[in-house]
Amino acid sequence: MCGIVGYVGKDNAKDIVIDGLKKLEYRGYDSAGIAIIRNGKLEVKKHVGGIANLENLIGEDPMTSNIAIGHTRWATHGVPSDDNAHPHTSQDGKIAIVHNGIIENYVELKHQLEEKHGVIFRTETDSEVIAQLIGVIYKEKKDLLQSVFDAVDKMRGTYAIVAMSQDEPDRMVAVRKDAPLIVGLGKENNFVASDIPALLKYVKEIYLIENNETVLVKADEVKIFNEDRKEIKREVFHVTWDVDAAEKEGYEHFMLKEIYEQPKGLSETLNRRLTKDGKIRLEGISLTKEDIDNINKIYIVACGTAYHAGLVGKYIIEKLAKIPVEVDVASEFRYRDPLVDEKTLFIAISQSGETLDTLAALREAKKRGARVLSVVNVVGSSVARESDDVFYTWAGPEIAVASTKAYTTQLMCMYMLALYMGLETGTLTREYYDNFIKDLQEVPGKLKTFFRNVSQIEELSKSLYNREQVFFIGRGLDSAVSYEGSLKLKEISYINSFAIAAGELKHGTIALMEPGTLVIALACQDFLYEKMVSNIQEIKARGAYVLAIAKEGNDAIAKQSDTMIYIPECRDEIVPLISVVPLQLFAYYVARERGCNIDKPKNLAKSVTVE
Ligand code: M6R
Repeated sequence: MCGIVGYVGKDNAKDIVIDGLKKLEYRGYDSAGIAIIRNGKLEVKKHVGGIANLENLIGEDPMTSNIAIGHTRWATHGVPSDDNAHPHTSQDGKIAIVHNGIIENYVELKHQLEEKHGVIFRTETDSEVIAQLIGVIYKEKKDLLQSVFDAVDKMRGTYAIVAMSQDEPDRMVAVRKDAPLIVGLGKENNFVASDIPALLKYVKEIYLIENNETVLVKADEVKIFNEDRKEIKREVFHVTWDVDAAEKEGYEHFMLKEIYEQPKGLSETLNRRLTKDGKIRLEGISLTKEDIDNINKIYIVACGTAYHAGLVGKYIIEKLAKIPVEVDVASEFRYRDPLVDEKTLFIAISQSGETLDTLAALREAKKRGARVLSVVNVVGSSVARESDDVFYTWAGPEIAVASTKAYTTQLMCMYMLALYMGLETGTLTREYYDNFIKDLQEVPGKLKTFFRNVSQIEELSKSLYNREQVFFIGRGLDSAVSYEGSLKLKEISYINSFAIAAGELKHGTIALMEPGTLVIALACQDFLYEKMVSNIQEIKARGAYVLAIAKEGNDAIAKQSDTMIYIPECRDEIVPLISVVPLQLFAYYVARERGCNIDKPKNLAKSVTVE
């Protein structure tokens, strides 16, 4: 989604802001722009398309200035165009703003500004209203901070906004409600941004801005104000990862790098939380036996890939901890009347921790009395901050839009929670628990072994990349993984892919099987294997071309299929941690073969901060 970068300080602001915007490209965008104040005059440059287009527009102009705000836009209101790109300016051209989010009452505000103040709007966006509103208020207040305070009082919706005025060229004013915003603290240099990677090259000390807070940022001073406009203190957050963690390190794409980082992420997430005697230490979570006994239901709510991790979570928690689990997509959960109360443990899963639907669902669950535990990758994100307990996935920064290492580390958290609860409540014996932990510890090594055969998947993708549609089938946990494999393929290769529980095929979808239809069949659950053989035979009888994924040594499946990918032997329950990897790689190589923009697929954003 939209990315924001702002800078005020001793260096040339344009270069820093453009550099920061490039680091936020992974969030997804369709136009980019920048505003500076040069010789007392506000100047704006913006262009539809990538940041390269904006750079071409700027050309050799150094745009010398000590202050700048920049933006990458992901269109919501109004098509991607030069005009609709941010920054937007006030009627007199003295105020510029950038905005991430949606102003819900923009139509009403727009009419008021047109009728009462004669404002003529130049764009189709909701965001222009912010610039125009601040501009009108500024004429009277002549103070940027006060004008932003007053403007925000009139707005409804979600926003991270940064504003600057040519009459106060030493400051930016930023405000946040339900859209990420951080302030980077430098020496005679201060920054604002949507996300840490934009600033990592320059600062490691950050203020995490909370909802309804406003920040005044000057080169040598940062002040944070609460909703009542009172100045408040904030602890500095020290970023522990370095720039390299957010760089490609020689890989062709972030997605590939992140696929290969899975053994490390899984090992971090698991091993750092095991005590010497092999017990799970849930840092940051106080879940006693009494608490668990008190729960009569778990609700797992998330979006996209994180939702798919929830599907596996349901299976595992019900099997190991014997607690009923419901899984729902956040955008549906929040508008139903979900049966959630103080006996519900609500688990939100989110890589970014900023997904608006997930955040809203979490708030709804809290309102109904549920205890909220979140599984989050980005430390200090909104979901993490609003939860009672946080279980961090230690996957490291995930930059590619297509989620890979976040998914497998989310799965690891699901296994750990299930095992922890099972051991605490006595549904598991210590022996079973110990063996399970041992098997989980072996997964990183098994993945590294599996990576030796990647060329086979690369070759396969060369013969299968031009399919128009692909089906993914599986049963039990394999079915949960099929959904993730299908999402991965469609989001980066744009192939029409569809996942279905194998047993459901005969209830309708089998009508779509034609000679040559590509079906990726996951057959990694030993106890369901014979059922899968029957399903494969059914589709083969209709001429489908079957690529099967099975455990090493499963020759019977090989006989039924046109081609095979073998995964290392492991217990059925932990198969998803391994079987998803060939699907990620298949999606990656197919997308590469099709010449797609793998790390930044069209129409998608990394962090979905609008409804
Ligand atoms: O940051 P989150 O985990 O909350 O994001 C949820 C989804 O938007 C995300 O998983 C999306 O489906 C990915 N692009 C999938 O690869």
